[in-house]
Amino acid sequence: MNLEIRSPQTDAEWNNYYDLRYRILRKPLGQPMSTVKTEEDDTATHFALYEDKQLRAITRLDLKENSGAQVRFVAVDTELQGKGFGKKLMLGIEEYCKQHKIQKIELQARENAVDFYLSLDYKLIAKTNLLFGLVQHYLMTKELK
Ligand SMILES: CC(C)(COP(=O)(O)OP(=O)(O)OC[C@H]1O[C@@H](n2cnc3c(N)ncnc32)[C@H](O)[C@@H]1OP(=O)(O)O)[C@@H](O)C(=O)NCCC(=O)NCCS
Repeated sequence: MNLEIRSPQTDAEWNNYYDLRYRILRKPLGQPMSTVKTEEDDTATHFALYEDKQLRAITRLDLKENSGAQVRFVAVDTELQGKGFGKKLMLGIEEYCKQHKIQKIELQARENAVDFYLSLDYKLIAKTNLLFGLVQHYLMTKELK
């Protein structure tokens, strides 16, 4: 089994990347395909976990000021959740951050994912926004050593 964490490269890989983001994070909230990207997608760093070239998990990293970064749009396909792909991807992001002198990761966790991030040693800081009036989010952070 060959695991790779890298940015999508070909048109087909980018299509699969945004398709997974849409299916897992936007469609279930009744949002149209036009909501799948944000302006920052052009400048952010994108990560996809491939197992034997098959897409398994995705996320985006937005660099912030003061040596920090925000993780956004973490998703694993429904039938592949709970198999460790999300954890492997998040640990890969941590390695990337350490190599790039990023000292702190923050993220807005959906309520259903708070325990996932707690299991990765993120700290729960505050209850924050209600996305599309539906999904409660929580600010969570992790200091990297
Ligand atoms: C949340 C998500 C990214 C987690 O990825 P995953 O591949 O399913 O999780 P993993 O299998 O890597 O789990 C890693 C650990 O977190 C725990 N965990 C995962 N999801 C959990 C959940 N919803 N509640 C409690 N614990 C959870 C696992 O038990 C596991 O613990 P272990 O390391 O002690 O075995 C994924 O389930 C997902 O895409 N969910 C839907 C979209 C979403 O909510 N994205 C996050 C937006 S902030």
